[in-house]
Amino acid sequence: MLILAFESSCDETAAAVVRDGREVLSDAVLSQADMHAIYGGVVPEIASRKHVEAIAALTDQALTQAGVTKRDIDAVAVTYGPGLIGALLVGVNFAKSVAYALDRPLIPVHHLRGHIAANYIAFPELEPPFIGLCISGGNSMLVDVRGYTEMSIIGATRDDAAGECFDKIARVLGLPYPGGKPMQDLAEGGDDKKYPLPRAKIADSVFDMSFSGLKTAAVNLAHNAEQKGETLDRSGLAASVAAAISEELVPRAVEAARRCGYDTLAAAGGVAANKRIRADLEKACQEQNIRLYLPPLSLCGDNGAMIGCQGYYEYLAGVRADMSLNAYANLEI
Ligand code: KG4
Repeated sequence: MLILAFESSCDETAAAVVRDGREVLSDAVLSQADMHAIYGGVVPEIASRKHVEAIAALTDQALTQAGVTKRDIDAVAVTYGPGLIGALLVGVNFAKSVAYALDRPLIPVHHLRGHIAANYIAFPELEPPFIGLCISGGNSMLVDVRGYTEMSIIGATRDDAAGECFDKIARVLGLPYPGGKPMQDLAEGGDDKKYPLPRAKIADSVFDMSFSGLKTAAVNLAHNAEQKGETLDRSGLAASVAAAISEELVPRAVEAARRCGYDTLAAAGGVAANKRIRADLEKACQEQNIRLYLPPLSLCGDNGAMIGCQGYYEYLAGVRADMSLNAYANLEI
């Protein structure tokens, strides 16, 4: 079964053709990051406008690269939330038009379910159940993945997402947007104990997280140093931030697997590309005998293939949308 999939929830426009859920025939992604970089973050209206400009050409590219025509497509999948509402609406409306014109089923896909599904593409042997650690620019959560379309959140950030924390601190350090990778490069060789940064303790939850205190502490450190004319150990600060974020995520993820009785953990989302987090996850999972799946960097960020993959499993579960499908900025997983 061939699925044509669309993703436009933030600042990547993507179209992909996926066969039977796991075989990616094409994955055309256009990042707008450069365009938003001058503003230090994503500007929602610009994102929507760029999606409008790019989506048709990306669709042609995805079909050509896959070596198929529109008529070969069996179903259309699209991210319908969560994300920037204007950005999502571009993908949703385009996907509806394609499904309507071709008279094919339309499958709505939750963005984070898609991120988790990126692991099915990278690892053919992976099957639920497992714990999904979803860490991106807009979300940070632990998901109990009981089945391909059966999942629930068991812990989430109470405030900022991990990626947002990286991005905001990067901005104060004068690094380009998105700040995760530049922060990682800056942390290289830095002393991760240089600056004592707070670790959040959530009184009434083992699995919920918080990143805003850490973000504020790091930002204040940088501002204070600047005001006092002190030299900031930028590399040390970047390494200390990465260590603090990782410590917020990794022990909770491993504990979640243990409590759910699972021997498998899969990471997902843009922040799952982070070297420190990957290394800490590897170490912790090895110690706890947990099988760890870390998607390749190309599948950590937003892409259409992951939506095509999850779309397949949603299709098998009978999930369909009609022409009244809307987009949702917030959406339960
Ligand atoms: O999943 P994604 O591409 O988009 C969302 O759905 O949010 O994630 C983007 C986030 C940004 O915050 C970016 O700074 C972060 O992923 N990121 C990283 C790294 N690469 C991307 N964060 C830490 N380390 C990285 N190497």
